[in-house]
Amino acid sequence: MIKVVIAGALGRMGTNIGRIVVEAPDMELVGGIDIREGAIFGKEVVVADRIDEFLKEKKPDVLIDFTVAAAAVENIKAAARNNVALIVGTTGFSPEQREAIRAAVEGNVPAVISSNFSVGVNIFWKLVREAARELGDYDIEVTEAHHRHKKDAPSGTAKTILEILDQELGNREKAYGRVGETERKDEIGVHVIRGGDIVGDHAVLFAGNFECIEISHRAYDRAIFAQGAVRAARWVSGKEPRIHSMQEVLGL
Ligand SMILES: NC(=O)c1ccc[n+]([C@@H]2O[C@H](COP(=O)([O-])OP(=O)(O)OC[C@H]3O[C@@H](n4cnc5c(N)ncnc54)[C@H](O)[C@@H]3O)[C@@H](O)[C@H]2O)c1
Repeated sequence: MIKVVIAGALGRMGTNIGRIVVEAPDMELVGGIDIREGAIFGKEVVVADRIDEFLKEKKPDVLIDFTVAAAAVENIKAAARNNVALIVGTTGFSPEQREAIRAAVEGNVPAVISSNFSVGVNIFWKLVREAARELGDYDIEVTEAHHRHKKDAPSGTAKTILEILDQELGNREKAYGRVGETERKDEIGVHVIRGGDIVGDHAVLFAGNFECIEISHRAYDRAIFAQGAVRAARWVSGKEPRIHSMQEVLGL
């Protein structure tokens, strides 16, 4: 049995993941962590500042974190201190926070960290990389849309798209939501939409003369991220103590 604790247990993703874990025959949900006490599928949810004590008591194999960036950094440090493998879906980390995460994880515990755990988005990233290799001289625009409650912008998935484009095309300037007089050079345009209950849309447009190619992904349900995170939780134990990608989990 793989014992799981969920950080952000009372949130949108935490609840989705909890449901999948309690229904999995090979997994046991042993509790949750959030900013207030509560319960998730009959299991205790404790406040975040009790995380060390809770991990020592429950001895989970994996901590799955879908919280907010500042909280996730602390939760990751606590998991590393207590020898608990990590699945991290939280987004919005600063470069300093990414560095702190790397320092906490490397040499201590295996972790899968991804801005998007859906199988479809991981294939979409691969297609974007392939297109960028062939279409580097086309104008490139990145668009993403999410629900009205999303805290960070652009999305972690869009930032991963930009990293892939930078890796393939060199570091191009980014133009975030153009306004006023503009002249297009070779910058990459980035556009963010927030509204309603949109689960997550991403698109990359490659525009040339007389033709455009657009690669897009649309999420209809958070279950795709939750299922991916649970798949990663099954994969992670016993792996090298470093940060792994979802591409590694999927063998892409
Ligand atoms: N990687 C992916 O596939 C993926 C998919 C969807 C969302 N996300 C990311 O996951 C995160 C959560 O998204 P959501 O829609 O579930 O948000 P949410 O606001 O519904 O849930 C976040 C939860 O974290 C809790 N929290 C805050 N501080 C905490 C702390 N110190 N310790 C424990 N819990 C704490 C909040 O109270 C809340 O219940 C966001 O960063 C989002 O971008 C990632």
